[in-house]
Amino acid sequence: MDRTFVMVKPDGVARGLIGEIVSRFEKKGLRLVAARLEKLPEKRVMEQYREHLEKPFFPSLRHYITSGPVFLMVWEGKSAVTVVRALVGETDPAKAAPGTIRGDFALDIGRNVVHASDSLESAKREIALHFTQEELCSYKRVDEAVLYE
Ligand code: RTP
Ligand code: MG
Repeated sequence: MDRTFVMVKPDGVARGLIGEIVSRFEKKGLRLVAARLEKLPEKRVMEQYREHLEKPFFPSLRHYITSGPVFLMVWEGKSAVTVVRALVGETDPAKAAPGTIRGDFALDIGRNVVHASDSLESAKREIALHFTQEELCSYKRVDEAVLYE
């Protein structure tokens, strides 16, 4: 079982898309192990997006990501990082396939509704950045008995 970090960005929260997004991961069979609604402090934004600090789009990304509350989540399941990235779709919503979250709900790369960890390594780092060990819940979904071989 892998874990991944997912965040509904301020545009997704403001547009009332939290339920729709959570529902897609639930229907896929993934297990929600932590969640929190909050306005991200500046320090964690810099950590979250540390590989983008020098990019030309970073100032607008930083401004946008702190413009309102975000919904932080940790999802667990088989190949969770890969599976969630596939459900989220390409970074640029214009290129994201229909049926993906960005393909269905977004138009602009700077307002692409959701973040998801891009590797197991990033997932570990991002989960530890936003959640304490105690916040990660341990339980089973009843359908896991038939979801997995
Ligand atoms: P994310 O980290 O948010 O899940 O998105 P991603 O992996 O698909 O894309 P990444 O390259 O990590 O970029 C992070 C976020 O920065 C904004 N961005 N804007 N204007 C631009 O060229 C540009 N490129 C990236 C997007 O909001 C992207 O999700
Ligand atoms: Mg990324």
